[in-house]
Amino acid sequence: MTAIMRRYADVGDLRAMQRVTQRVWSVDSPHHVGDLAWGRLMYTLDQADWPIALWEADGRVVAWGWAHLPDDLRLQVDPAFPELVEEILAWFDETAAGGPREINVLDAQTELRDALVRHGYRPRDDAPYFRYHSRSLTDLPAPALPDGFTARAVRGDQDVDRRVAVHQAAWSSTGVTTESYRAIMDAWPYRPELDWIVEAPDGRFAANCLIWYDDAHRVGLIEPVGTDPAHRRRGLSRAVCLAALHALRRAGATSAIVCPRGDAGYPVPQALYRGLGFHPYARTHTYVKLGRTE
Ligand SMILES: CC(C)(COP(=O)(O)OP(=O)(O)OC[C@H]1O[C@@H](n2cnc3c(N)ncnc32)[C@H](O)[C@@H]1OP(=O)(O)O)[C@@H](O)C(=O)NCCC(=O)NCCS
Repeated sequence: MTAIMRRYADVGDLRAMQRVTQRVWSVDSPHHVGDLAWGRLMYTLDQADWPIALWEADGRVVAWGWAHLPDDLRLQVDPAFPELVEEILAWFDETAAGGPREINVLDAQTELRDALVRHGYRPRDDAPYFRYHSRSLTDLPAPALPDGFTARAVRGDQDVDRRVAVHQAAWSSTGVTTESYRAIMDAWPYRPELDWIVEAPDGRFAANCLIWYDDAHRVGLIEPVGTDPAHRRRGLSRAVCLAALHALRRAGATSAIVCPRGDAGYPVPQALYRGLGFHPYARTHTYVKLGRTE
């Protein structure tokens, strides 16, 4: 019988977490190597030092649990070690210290859903959810931009300030900084040729689309996309996504996925991606476990 060890992750363990995520990836998977990198590094550790536990067999990570405190758990388990689901849920119970807990699962994760119910979780039907979309890269239209605007890939460190500025403007948030973005650019599998921006006539960046490429499965994940509010509704996000998708195809990918909100509370990104030819194939469902005091 294989001995399983549990330990806490540090930021240097991201690659080991990505390895198990990549090894078990299919279109039914909730995680892609790119969303691990983006989710782990978009904020510096002083803003978001979430507890992450790793389970290892023979020195190899076979499962991880990532507690987005106060209440959200993400998890990945190699199907060869199904018993680790129970261990991760028990670890999250300890880590959440009696507070409310929430986990999002995809349609196809029926065994996980059964385990959640056994652990006292219940589906919450009125929660916001994410709808996973995919698109083959065979028939991509050409990007079209208003006069004076150009789409191009970022050119490394010289573009970091403007690259962060357009992200901050699109999301009305200063959470992503030049420091955290440099960490993103250093992370596997970031590739500058898949990080696209639209440059406005005044030299500022007006829109962006970052794609993460998993070359083992030949699938790219779009995460994130944004347009500065000063330049919205002019086709810039459509154009920058198409330009990035062409680059993804040149890199060798055969398909792309993207996971916007699917509920009526945040409809615009889904409209954008459907208009780009993406088709929905799965959605998340929220399971919650109430805290001790509720
Ligand atoms: C979503 C977002 C990127 C759209 O940027 P944009 O440059 O204004 O979008 P475009 O002009 O290229 O529009 C493309 C399509 O998106 C949809 N869309 C964009 N804005 C919309 C709006 N306000 N209402 C309804 N549909 C809208 C439409 O389908 C549009 O196609 P159409 O013009 O032919 O109708 C932008 O609103 C944004 O940055 N939002 C905040 C960040 C975010 O949510 N990012 C996406 C999730 S990763």
